[in-house]
Amino acid sequence: MPSANARIVLTGAGGQFGQTLVACWPDSLLSQYELIPLMRGDLDIADAAAVHSTLDALQPALIINAAAYTAVDKAESEAEAAFAINERGVANLAAASTCPLIHLSTDFVFDGAASTPYAENAATAPLSVYGKSKLAGEKALLAQKPDAMIIRTSWLYSEYGANFVKTMLRLMSERDVLSIVNDQIGSPTSTHSLAAVVCSAASTRLDSAAMPKEPSGIFHWSDGASITWFDFALEIQTQALALGLLKSPCTLKPIPTSEYPTPAARPLYSVMSRARARAEFDCPTNTWQAELKRCLLASS
Ligand SMILES: NC(=O)c1ccc[n+]([C@@H]2O[C@H](COP(=O)([O-])OP(=O)(O)OC[C@H]3O[C@@H](n4cnc5c(N)ncnc54)[C@H](OP(=O)(O)O)[C@@H]3O)[C@@H](O)[C@H]2O)c1
Repeated sequence: MPSANARIVLTGAGGQFGQTLVACWPDSLLSQYELIPLMRGDLDIADAAAVHSTLDALQPALIINAAAYTAVDKAESEAEAAFAINERGVANLAAASTCPLIHLSTDFVFDGAASTPYAENAATAPLSVYGKSKLAGEKALLAQKPDAMIIRTSWLYSEYGANFVKTMLRLMSERDVLSIVNDQIGSPTSTHSLAAVVCSAASTRLDSAAMPKEPSGIFHWSDGASITWFDFALEIQTQALALGLLKSPCTLKPIPTSEYPTPAARPLYSVMSRARARAEFDCPTNTWQAELKRCLLASS
């Protein structure tokens, strides 16, 4: 049994995933572990001394790192800031922790040349500074803490913060016509489904006193779709109209990536296999459409 004051530290608690995890922290963990949500103002993971002193004071049983530099396009001109957080910040957590650590990473570690779902051990070749900094963080973490868990996810959205779903709802209510990229294929992921997987991973690790290092390494989690941004926008519009979140439809126009240039290159295909996560954790079984509906209801 864990001690009465056993703590789980959540870094990056103010982000869209962090806020979701705080909101849906399960009773099964709540009864045994106190969740300590740390916002960026409470702990800057890029500050090695602060990371050491905070973790030393809290002595957590587990760390969940949701802190990251996530401005994909801005990172192209702010590489130093992206690496300071996504590589060295993660290394700071690894160096200062004496407990298990669960970290989040991204489908943008892949170059998108595949046409079937990426396995965890598929070759990485990030196209962007953001993807390179996240891959460097994965490597720094596993080099120092081979028993860490890394959960890569993709196209994350929620009722919190800024994301594709919220941007679409706003633009669809403002415009008559919207052009949406239709040649990048991936898997939207609700922060709620990801939170369920992270909580199951946390329970698995905290319960595995007999085999404290298993399971470890890299896992993939998404909501299982294999769709384009255009397909996702269509479904957002269909559901939003049905729920009364939009009054009238706007015309959605499919366009190639070449007609929507961005500073950062993105993989044309980034669907990831979920088989390992499903084998090891208690994973949600909702369809991606059901996860979207849950988010839209929460946004209304
Ligand atoms: N969003 C996606 O589509 C997506 C896709 C795949 C993977 N992921 C990964 O999933 C994870 C969660 O993403 P998210 O969408 O929840 O990101 P998010 O909403 O951008 O949240 C990240 C949080 O980290 C905080 N942060 C930034 N620098 C920090 C630092 N030096 N120390 C402490 N906190 C810091 C941010 O604070 P400020 O707001 O104050 O900067 C923010 O609260 C990340 O690892 C991300 O790489 C995201």
